[in-house]
Amino acid sequence: IDSVLSERLAAGLRDIPDYPSPGILFKDITPLLADPELFAASVDALAAAHRAGTGAEVDVVAGVEARGFIFGAAVALSLGVGFVPIRKKGKLPHTTVSAEYTLEYGTAIIEVHEDAVHPGQRVLLLDDVLATGGTAEAAAGLLEGIGAHVVSVSFLVELAFLNGRERLSGRDVKAVLSY
Ligand code: PRP
Repeated sequence: IDSVLSERLAAGLRDIPDYPSPGILFKDITPLLADPELFAASVDALAAAHRAGTGAEVDVVAGVEARGFIFGAAVALSLGVGFVPIRKKGKLPHTTVSAEYTLEYGTAIIEVHEDAVHPGQRVLLLDDVLATGGTAEAAAGLLEGIGAHVVSVSFLVELAFLNGRERLSGRDVKAVLSY
């Protein structure tokens, strides 16, 4: 994306030191979300990055609770496809498959409905932030485990210094902003 747009979007992010635990510098996206022009611009940038990349059509967007829902749902509407929620353990009502993964701060279990995609459906996996890559790696594995083809993995923000991309090697990874 061009530097004017990336500076505008970056201005919508707020750094919170030592949240949620000491030593973590948290990227707070709430100022961006509260600004309708910035929110729209971030969704447009995510959709445009996808269209400009592999150009591969997708059948559905998947997003990880909670912040991945915000951008994932908006980008799904922008691309004219449906949305698949990947949730934290115990939140989905139907039969699920689950994956445990290590976070920058702790461990977690995420789940998806076993019938969330049809075999071979092309999925764009979307989240707000790529940090260590544990969440996205687990989410991509879950989707593939139920027969999806994960075409691309996109983020609004990549914390490049945490090398999360290494855990997604072999995948088409895109980020609008990188630190
Ligand atoms: C954050 C963020 C990503 C993940 C990135 O979510 O929204 O999903 O961490 O970290 P990783 O690359 O090291 O896995 P979090 O687990 O804090 O949940 P939330 O969206 O519900 O706040």
